[in-house]
Amino acid sequence: MRSKKRREIELRDLFRTRNRGMRSLLATVEKLVDHDVPVLILGESGVGKDHLAAAIHACGARRELPFVHIDCASIPHDLFESELFGYEPGTFTDAKVRRIGKLEAAKDGTVYFDEIAALTTPLQAKLLRAIEEKRFTRLGGHQNVAFAARVIVSTNVDLDGLVARGEFRRDLFYRINVVTLTLPPLRERREDIPLLAAGFLRVARVARRSEAPGSTPARKILRSFEPEALEVLTGYPWPGNIRELKNVVERAALLEDSDRIGVGSLAERLRDATSLVSAAVCDQWTLDELEKRYIREILRQTKSNFSRAATILGINRKTLLEKRRKYGLE
Ligand SMILES: Nc1ncnc2c1ncn2[C@@H]1O[C@H](COP(=O)(O)OP(=O)(O)O)[C@@H](O)[C@H]1O
Ligand SMILES: [Mg+2]
Repeated sequence: MRSKKRREIELRDLFRTRNRGMRSLLATVEKLVDHDVPVLILGESGVGKDHLAAAIHACGARRELPFVHIDCASIPHDLFESELFGYEPGTFTDAKVRRIGKLEAAKDGTVYFDEIAALTTPLQAKLLRAIEEKRFTRLGGHQNVAFAARVIVSTNVDLDGLVARGEFRRDLFYRINVVTLTLPPLRERREDIPLLAAGFLRVARVARRSEAPGSTPARKILRSFEPEALEVLTGYPWPGNIRELKNVVERAALLEDSDRIGVGSLAERLRDATSLVSAAVCDQWTLDELEKRYIREILRQTKSNFSRAATILGINRKTLLEKRRKYGLE
């Protein structure tokens, strides 16, 4: 087994963060990667639930064994059981040979149930039985198949609410809800946006470099973001979370002709949505903070033409210069 130290470095590489809540979540992950306890990952769509499930497997003792991702929302209900448990020949008209299901394919590795709330209650009961008894039978079969994979589950819906309404089985809920990891939405960890954006830009840069020679004229190397572009990125509320950020950076990397991503290459919805006021309300800025940022924006727009900026702000030039000094905008 590798040393604990080495593994920490890997987790940190997979989850670059400056956010306190994320750091303590990673400390918990660090403790559980080598154990068998089921893990329930909660969080809005795009916060990185799949990324975390894969990381738990990749950093844990089972990393050399299979990781099987089951997207509960995309498998049709009537096929789910055979997908999960497999079947014996003759079970259906066209079942000519035995087919191994996903639980069996996972061996002693990890099985990840993505969007578990999409499972029907009869399927929930069958899954619970397999987890509790550590075995199951293939459809149409009698022979027990051992089930020893680690179980990780995720959902973006309020499971408590579903349980209360009888739409999710309480017994399965208790079985999977041993360790719960809640990934915060991106708007609650804005300090990570520059880090994540820089990471996505690095990947886009590598992709650009490996473009077929001669397919496009040589373009400048994308180095970073213009400060205004970063400000728009950090101010936007990111309803699609990290997935949306990744798409925005990839698109900007494609469109940008200079060596730094500017506001012009960011999707229009970002520029529109990122009004200072919405960012201020979201992050609960003080009035001074809002004033400072507004003055900085107007100075940027007027290219530091103080007279024009003062006119726009409705104050005289002297007051503007005083505020500029007060807020360290010189
Ligand atoms: N911490 C992270 N660092 C880098 N990329 C991330 C991180 N979290 C998520 N991603 C990327 O963001 C996208 C959405 O993540 P995903 O795990 O699919 O979210 P969810 O399952 O919560 O909808 C994926 O492309 C994933 O690789
Ligand atoms: Mg997912």
